[in-house]
Amino acid sequence: MVLVTGGARRIGRAVALDLARRGLNVGFTYRTSDAEALRLEQELLALGVRAMAIRADLRHASAAQAAVEAVAATLGRLDVVVNNAGRYETAAFEDISDGQWDAMLATNLTAPFLVSRAAVPHLRKAGQGRIIHITSIGALRAFPTHAHYCASKAGLAHLTRAMARALAPEISVNAVAPGLIAFSDDLSDWEQKMRDRTPLQRAGTAADVAEAVGFLATCNPFLTGQTLVVDGGLSLI
Ligand SMILES: NC(=O)c1ccc[n+]([C@@H]2O[C@H](COP(=O)([O-])OP(=O)(O)OC[C@H]3O[C@@H](n4cnc5c(N)ncnc54)[C@H](OP(=O)(O)O)[C@@H]3O)[C@@H](O)[C@H]2O)c1
Repeated sequence: MVLVTGGARRIGRAVALDLARRGLNVGFTYRTSDAEALRLEQELLALGVRAMAIRADLRHASAAQAAVEAVAATLGRLDVVVNNAGRYETAAFEDISDGQWDAMLATNLTAPFLVSRAAVPHLRKAGQGRIIHITSIGALRAFPTHAHYCASKAGLAHLTRAMARALAPEISVNAVAPGLIAFSDDLSDWEQKMRDRTPLQRAGTAADVAEAVGFLATCNPFLTGQTLVVDGGLSLI
């Protein structure tokens, strides 16, 4: 049984579908994308697995706890948590408001902590539990146009390593760090520049990220505290 946060759209949706195709039952959270969540739930069921959509704002401890408990109770157990829900925006450093800073940290760092903390007892009970955080190339590279996002993802990357030690040996904790991921051919100027600088000469897809998550969710479990960077080599330059 897997819980994917922010599963209704984009990367989260691809992750949920990939895990279902691997035969895993999937619970997922969403916050505002009701119609997309309903559609995904139906698609997951059509793949022959059990599925459950839960509306939750994961910045709040009570909501994170309730989402984890609902999935574990309804689907019977919890083996894997994928902390995918996230927030992204650009802003010049001096223009980042208190509210933007707080929302960025709350969504990208506090929420994965809250979900993981709530999930730990269930993951321990399942045996060989796994937590997978979705970080970003922004955790590795210092982009001046979104310092608050980079800081939140770098925090999550280090939390990955600290949690790997704190939760061993029962639970492994790893991360996937996507580079530029495109959802259409319509790229902004900045995205085109990133794509052109990418050694593999293309933007990534949600399926590229989902494949890496699927590997970490199902691979031989002698792997913890690591980050799979899915960026076509962008972070190398
Ligand atoms: N796209 C990229 O190029 C890229 C690159 C590097 C890293 N990443 C990371 O990969 C992950 C997925 O990326 P994405 O572009 O698919 O993400 P996204 O669309 O920006 O966000 C994923 C989902 O997070 C949910 N969410 C936002 N705030 C929430 C909150 N407070 N509580 C609960 N859920 C919340 C939203 O759910 P609702 O829609 O239901 O509101 C949203 O659909 C993110 O962690 C992102 O930072 C993405």
